[in-house]
Amino acid sequence: MSRAAVLTGIGAMVPPREVGNDAFAERLATSDEWIRTRTGIRKRHMVDPGTSTSDLAVEAGQRALKSAGRDQVDLVVLATATPDYPLPGTAPDVASRLGLDHVPAFDVAAVCAGFVYALATAAGTIGAGLTDRVLVIGAEAFSTILDPTDRGTAILFGDGAGAVVLERGPADAPGALLGFDLGSDGSMADLIMIPGGGSRQRSGGAPPDADRAWFTMQGREVFGQAATRMAESTRTLLKTIDWPVESVDRFVGHQANVRILHAVSDLIGLPRERAVVHLDQVGNTSAASIPLALAHAAATGQLLPGHRVAMSAFGGGLAWGSAALVWPDVVPG
Ligand code: UT7
Repeated sequence: MSRAAVLTGIGAMVPPREVGNDAFAERLATSDEWIRTRTGIRKRHMVDPGTSTSDLAVEAGQRALKSAGRDQVDLVVLATATPDYPLPGTAPDVASRLGLDHVPAFDVAAVCAGFVYALATAAGTIGAGLTDRVLVIGAEAFSTILDPTDRGTAILFGDGAGAVVLERGPADAPGALLGFDLGSDGSMADLIMIPGGGSRQRSGGAPPDADRAWFTMQGREVFGQAATRMAESTRTLLKTIDWPVESVDRFVGHQANVRILHAVSDLIGLPRERAVVHLDQVGNTSAASIPLALAHAAATGQLLPGHRVAMSAFGGGLAWGSAALVWPDVVPG
């Protein structure tokens, strides 16, 4: 039997507190109309004080394990840009709380592309014979790093977590990951960053001031990069696995802005209706974005067993990644 990585379960969660666009209009120079028309976002969910990324990851992980009908895995890979602490990684804590004692567990830091990077890493360990079953989680408490006074970022992001179980199986099984395209361009790292708190800043001798600890993004420049990179990466992937663009039933792109999803669809020549849109409900949830969108699409019947699915993500780094699979018969947990 070939050693493909096959998706056998999926789970997702968002914290209960909903924040509508009007909440920002009350305190920033913005409006529900601007946010809806420029981004497509209507609301997002945010953690309450005391709740962190691991709490969301544990819940999504439990749901994915339930969906796969499993209670053990060989590895946990957690994609996040908002770990509970600068160190240690958050994945070991998540694994312990899931009852997965002593399994290897580590974080992947590729910001919004993190889930696809984590998926590729996990699939690689299955292909290499290191593991047979892996829990891959994308989780973010992104609201915790947003500058509440910056209307250019505060309105865009939300919190949540999504997870999948990958298991060793045949390459022709529904759910088998059929290929990846990954890339990065660090020359544009300053477009999306937290300037303080890392060794670049701390080598000066002190922890960061509050004004250097917030997330920053140059939105307009990122918009253009996001559309171009996701389109190029998706095209490359489809060529590698020999899928004509028109054969793709669902495009699950990083949920940052509905205008970016439309731009990518137009650039690759796919009807816009095939792009799954979930950001209206949850905003940009960074590494959780793709698994949340997959789970939502599967739960609402937009994604059906047998559908050809192309996913593509883009974000800070800059880093981007795409993956493809035929959707399996799974019920989100
Ligand atoms: O997760 C990583 C990937 N992230 C992304 O892909 C995000 C990509 N960027 C975007 O989605 C968009 O660039 C934004 C939604 C961030 C901004 O939309 P835009 O259409 O690119 O607007 P802009 O930055 O070109 O700004 C247009 C105007 C500016 O005012 P002036 O200079 O024309 O007077 C901004 O100051 O809109 C203003 N503006 C706002 N107005 C009301 C920016 N943010 C807001 C706001 N409310 N929240």
